[in-house]
Amino acid sequence: MAMENMKQFLFALSAAGAFGFVAIIFVLRWVLHFKEGLAWDGGLAEFNWHPVLIVTGFIFLQGIAIIVYRLPWTWQCSKLIMKFIHAGLNLAAFIFAVISMVAVFDFHNAAKIPNMYSLHSWLGLAAVILYGLQLVVGVGLYLIPVTPVSWRAAFMPIHVYSGLFLFTSVIAVALMGITEKLIFGLSNPKYKDSPPEAIFVNVLGILLVVFGALVLWIATRTSWKRPSDQILHSLHTNRGSEDNSKAGPALSELAEGANPEADGDVRKRNSKSES
Ligand code: HEM
Ligand code: HEM
Repeated sequence: MAMENMKQFLFALSAAGAFGFVAIIFVLRWVLHFKEGLAWDGGLAEFNWHPVLIVTGFIFLQGIAIIVYRLPWTWQCSKLIMKFIHAGLNLAAFIFAVISMVAVFDFHNAAKIPNMYSLHSWLGLAAVILYGLQLVVGVGLYLIPVTPVSWRAAFMPIHVYSGLFLFTSVIAVALMGITEKLIFGLSNPKYKDSPPEAIFVNVLGILLVVFGALVLWIATRTSWKRPSDQILHSLHTNRGSEDNSKAGPALSELAEGANPEADGDVRKRNSKSES
């Protein structure tokens, strides 16, 4: 599958995958080795589901959901299938986030700790609610076949902006949560004395930031966008003809002309405009 700067794409993608994977290993090692482990018992082991589900679900799965349209080997799949995958991964991320909320509220109630007092909890709950809204609006606009194409086109820049904004906010909220937990949880030696757990979990925070940076990078390269279905079709039918070199200009003409795609994303696809 043709793609400009394929090597750079594969490098960014594998780096994102590696940072995300290692972040999941780190959060598991944090709760299983340094902390009380995992259980559903109203105690600290139940609280530990909170960071684990946030990192695996709300951050990692959401990151994958955001870049799934960019994978060149999925470009031969229909747009509808890719929408189901994008929506399904986002739904899975939302379910993980909701269960992680149940874990922390349940733990607070059992331990008689007040609910919703911190900035972390305010921004965190707001992010989960807005993410649920983004999911419902996304299904309404892009999966339900009756939505007018003009609406799909008009809302696409908002959908992309709010999706990327939410993803970034979720990582910021997780960093606040990590910091709170280190300050609350470490005593003798304290956080300020830099015990091994503090260093280890600080590194977890850095892994999350780098994962987020890579996902945002991949999701904002116009030259790595999925070509529209019509362009894909013309590429397939051109394949094998001697005049393949014409595919380039034809691509940009199509992208700039009448909107060829039902989703109406008219972002410029001429890769030369970017670099
Ligand atoms: C509490 C959301 C990530 C640590 C809470 C509460 C919410 C929340 C709503 C309040 C629960 C209550 O009042 O009963 C989120 C969201 C996150 C996230 C949406 C991801 C974006 C994390 C992470 C950690 C963490 C990664 C790391 C350990 C804490 C701690 C509390 C807490 C220590 C209890 C203190 C407090 O209420 O601020 N979180 N959280 N959170 N969270 Fe998170
Ligand atoms: C594109 C986020 C739910 C349909 C995007 C993009 C982001 C995003 C960041 C830009 C990706 C890119 O440029 O490659 C989210 C988030 C969601 C969500 C955070 C859930 C909370 C949905 C749902 C649908 C949907 C439920 C319904 C099918 C689309 C479509 C695109 C898109 C059609 C355009 C893909 C393209 O440009 O080829 N979404 N989305 N999204 N999303 Fe979502």
